[in-house]
Amino acid sequence: MVKIAPSILSADFSRLGEEVKAAESAGADLIHIDVMDGHFVPNITVGPLVVSAVRRVTSIPLDVHLMIEEPDRYVDAFVQSGADYLTVHAEACIHLHRTVQNIRERGVKAGVSINPATPLNAIEPILPFVDMVLVMSVNPGFGGQEFIPEVVQKIRRLRETVIECGYNISIEVDGGINPDNAREVASAGADILVMGNAFYGSDDYHGVIRSVRERCRELDV
Ligand code: DX5
Ligand code: ZN
Repeated sequence: MVKIAPSILSADFSRLGEEVKAAESAGADLIHIDVMDGHFVPNITVGPLVVSAVRRVTSIPLDVHLMIEEPDRYVDAFVQSGADYLTVHAEACIHLHRTVQNIRERGVKAGVSINPATPLNAIEPILPFVDMVLVMSVNPGFGGQEFIPEVVQKIRRLRETVIECGYNISIEVDGGINPDNAREVASAGADILVMGNAFYGSDDYHGVIRSVRERCRELDV
C-alpha cells in the first residue's frame, strides 16, 4: 500500500503539536518535515529544535527533507532531534557518498533527493547506498505549487532501475500531489507520497487519506 507523508509546511504552526497528532490519527504513515536554509532554496523554515518538538508528540517516523547547503554540518543535530529518515539534495552535496555514509553510520535511513531539472543519472552511482530517493515534482522551496507532470516519466524509469538492480529503496515523490494525481504517481512507481497543501489545506484530513488510499487501492506498490 502506498504510504502517505503529510508535510507540516502547510500546517498551522501556531498549533503544530495538534496538527501532527491529527495527521497521525488520520492515518499518516510518516510526518514530512521540510528544512530550508534560505540558500539552497529561497525560503527559510525550521531546524532541529522543531524536529525534536514534533518527535515528542508522535511515534510515527519523521521524514526530514533537508533543502540546505552543506548538510553534513547538521547531520548530528538532526539525528539527535529524532529524525528517522534524513534526505539530502544531490545538488547540494559535493561528496554525496560521504554524506550518505555519515547519515547511515548514525543509524538513520538516508535519502537522496533530486530537483525536477536534475537527471536520474546524477544519482545512479549512489543508489546502492541509499534507503530512499525523493523525486521532487516541483522546484523546492514552497508548498502549494503545481505538480510538474513530466516528472512521472522519471519516476517510472527510476522504478525500473530499482527493480532491475534489485535495490531496496523507497521512492518518495514531493510537490503538488493531491488525491487527483496520486494514482498516476503511485502507478509510475512511487511508494511514498508527500502531501502538504492537499492535506493540511483540507478540512477533512481523514477524507484526504481515505481518498488517496481508495484511488491507489488495486496498485501493487
Ligand atoms: C517543497 C517541499 C514540499 C512541500 C510540498 O519544497 O519540499 O514537501 O511541503 O507541499 P505541496 O504538497 O503543497 O506541494
Ligand atoms: Zn519536502
